[in-house]
Amino acid sequence: MSDISVSLAGVHLETCIFNASGPNDVLLEELEIIARSKSSAVTMKSCTLEPRKGNSEPRYADLELGSINSMGLPNLGYKEYIRFSKVLKSKYNKPIIASISGMSLRDNVTMFEAFNDSEADIIEFNPGSPNTIGRPTMGYDFEYLEQNLREITKICRKPLGVKLPPYFDFVHFEAVAEILKKYNVRYISCINSIGNALFIDPIKEQTLIKPKGGFGGLGGKYIKPTSLANVRKFYELLDEKIQIVGCGGVYTGVDVFEFILVGASAVQLGTVFIQEGPSCFERVQNELHAIMQKKGYESIEDFRGRLRIIE
Ligand code: DHB
Repeated sequence: MSDISVSLAGVHLETCIFNASGPNDVLLEELEIIARSKSSAVTMKSCTLEPRKGNSEPRYADLELGSINSMGLPNLGYKEYIRFSKVLKSKYNKPIIASISGMSLRDNVTMFEAFNDSEADIIEFNPGSPNTIGRPTMGYDFEYLEQNLREITKICRKPLGVKLPPYFDFVHFEAVAEILKKYNVRYISCINSIGNALFIDPIKEQTLIKPKGGFGGLGGKYIKPTSLANVRKFYELLDEKIQIVGCGGVYTGVDVFEFILVGASAVQLGTVFIQEGPSCFERVQNELHAIMQKKGYESIEDFRGRLRIIE
């Protein structure tokens, strides 16, 4: 059988497939479901300093080709996720990824300091949520992004990943890549949901979700071309020093294969995990094994980044 293990930020992962931060990862019982599944790591919900209830419901809808959400960062507050990291590590001994999405630089500094004493193997900094009412997506404010990375990397003693929002213009990719290269970032995850999409029900003549007048983050099959483009463009711009995790529209082994071909070292499953449940990890793994066998690839590095440009 082919070897689909990878090293991410210096952490060995048995497979290159694990859960994205966000879906069904707020409560300890939800995290235990992920820990018991074939997800190669347990990624936790982005946390804030204080617990949050999140936005009003309905705040998530399944769509024909994906999902729309405006959860509004419902979470139990960072102290609970530090505690959960210890419980999960002792019970399951799987790599744990914490996700931090503070409301201010000060909150981020406080949380990063505290997570040094957690059992998280990796910390993902998330400046990409488009759903916090009254706040812009932080990853689009390059000055604020850099200020946060500067202070966080002074404090953080765990390997650091950054979950990026989608970018659409080469000038923006280049600006973000230059910022990332200055700091000790071990990987980026591309992409967060495409912010502020709008789905409506034409029969009921109303929005599908309630917060923000119906606008929400788009995920799933709709966004895969944008995810692939973000992975590829950052792969072109970054040294191999910063790894890339693909996220956004990964449903099948073929999707994983494509993300690795454009340069990703691993992938995260989001919408498909909500829609299919924890069995998705094993199914996608099996599908990836089958493609690699058919193509004669023995490991991820045999084809990672080797996309050919059509002549
Ligand atoms: C939420 C959505 C995101 O896309 C994200 O990165 C963090 C939080 C949310 O609405 O809860």
